[in-house]
Amino acid sequence: MSSVELNKWIGAFLATALFVMVLKIFGDALFPAHHNHSAPVFLVESGIVTEHSAQAQTSETVSLPSLLPSLLLAADQAAGKKTARKCLACHTFELDGVNKIGPNLWDIAGSAKAARSGFSYSSSLTDIGGTWDYDALNSFLTSPKTYAPGTKMAFPGIKKPTARANVIVYLRALSDTPIALPTE
Ligand code: HEC
Repeated sequence: MSSVELNKWIGAFLATALFVMVLKIFGDALFPAHHNHSAPVFLVESGIVTEHSAQAQTSETVSLPSLLPSLLLAADQAAGKKTARKCLACHTFELDGVNKIGPNLWDIAGSAKAARSGFSYSSSLTDIGGTWDYDALNSFLTSPKTYAPGTKMAFPGIKKPTARANVIVYLRALSDTPIALPTE
């Protein structure tokens, strides 16, 4: 083997070793973050948590028909309004409010999905179709990304069913003609 060739092999070996070291450093730096419960906001985008929320979504969808009507009937609209402050960074709630990062949400319950004029929706949301009935709102607000993969709504969701029900009855009230509450 010529010394030039030998140098090439040594170079290749060192490059590989370096690559493995870099991978390990990155791996070590990233891995503990998955277990860091004090920073949940950053966890949402990770594959691990998405997988978990997909599971949670499945089980909640199954229990929806019996669970949700009773939750909605017992829901606290004033508490929902407070929780909905989280939405204000991106949405307006009042009649004729402007579209911000997200569309205006006046009269959204019972309205067609992805239909606010002047707002450019993701194809993910326009493709779903139908109206924002209670089930759809519940599923979307549980985990926007699970309900509409590829949605532009960068919001992790409201995991607690009672808090979600509160927000949904608040959204329902944002209308001149609110849709009927479900019957048990
Ligand atoms: C970080 C910004 C952001 C936050 C926070 C946010 N949203 Fe959104 N929202 C969006 C965007 C962007 C869209 C459009 C999604 C798309 O096109 O995929 C959207 C869409 C929606 C829609 C569908 C509207 C339609 O016309 O079909 C509803 C309902 C909604 N959001 C409710 C909420 C509620 C309730 C909250 C608070 C609990 C919230 N959002 C928090 C950005 C946000």
